[in-house]
Amino acid sequence: MNYFFITGSSQGLGKSLTELLLEDTNNVVYGFSRNQTIEHSNFAHHSIDLSDLKQVQEYQFPTLKDNDKVVLVNNAGIVGEVGHIGSLDNQKIIDCYNLNLIAPSIITNNFISKYSEVKKLIINISSGAGRTPIDGWNVYCATKAGLDMFSQVINEEATINNDDLSILSLAPGIIDTGMQTTIRSSKKEGFSNIERFIEYKENGDLASPSDTAKQVLRFIKESELQQNVICSVRDLTN
Ligand SMILES: NC(=O)c1ccc[n+]([C@@H]2O[C@H](COP(=O)([O-])OP(=O)(O)OC[C@H]3O[C@@H](n4cnc5c(N)ncnc54)[C@H](OP(=O)(O)O)[C@@H]3O)[C@@H](O)[C@H]2O)c1
Repeated sequence: MNYFFITGSSQGLGKSLTELLLEDTNNVVYGFSRNQTIEHSNFAHHSIDLSDLKQVQEYQFPTLKDNDKVVLVNNAGIVGEVGHIGSLDNQKIIDCYNLNLIAPSIITNNFISKYSEVKKLIINISSGAGRTPIDGWNVYCATKAGLDMFSQVINEEATINNDDLSILSLAPGIIDTGMQTTIRSSKKEGFSNIERFIEYKENGDLASPSDTAKQVLRFIKESELQQNVICSVRDLTN
């Protein structure tokens, strides 16, 4: 069996990826989010607020039998409060770092520790925003840049330790999810690019979560072919 641990499995990209994986009866998916939206015999939901680091630290990965491969997808993320620094709510800064960067770091630590003897793949869902500065998204950009660097260091460590681990930090493109709805409803004064994001929606430029999930699945299946830890669905040529 293949075992998948997917954060943010209740909606958007994480939900579509979970549903796609569950089409294969050899896959078992453990989902992590505050809400449960999927019922399936091969799906186990864990209700958790991933911005609450006490809850994150308390989670214990299960002991698995007959596992061919274990895959962790750190997908849950929020854009956080959109606005220029100096105008932000400090608690929202903390929540965004906790969910987008600290929770994935703790979960990755516990995942690698638990499955030390097993073939492992980690996909961190990053963003182009971690590679290009966007005003109003200061904390979001920083969390995704942090996830990119974290992933690169884990890759170095796996090589040094001869660990059977592949890791990718994957930018999924622009997807028609709740996150984009949040972005479009931001205040103009704190986000100079808002019109561009409204136009993406109006022009039909946003990818569907299900199409993006298919692209993420290709990275999961072909992870050994990937040369670079830092990657994007835009790297796919067909
Ligand atoms: N949409 C885009 O255009 C885009 C572009 C680049 C990168 N990304 C990245 O893609 C990933 C998925 O985003 P999406 O667009 O699919 O977002 P989404 O539709 O808003 O879904 C976010 C998921 O994260 C979960 N989540 C949010 N806060 C949580 C919390 N405190 N604790 C536990 N789970 C929480 C949500 O579940 P609950 O609400 O049930 O907890 C939901 O399942 C994110 O990492 C995002 O940064 C998205």
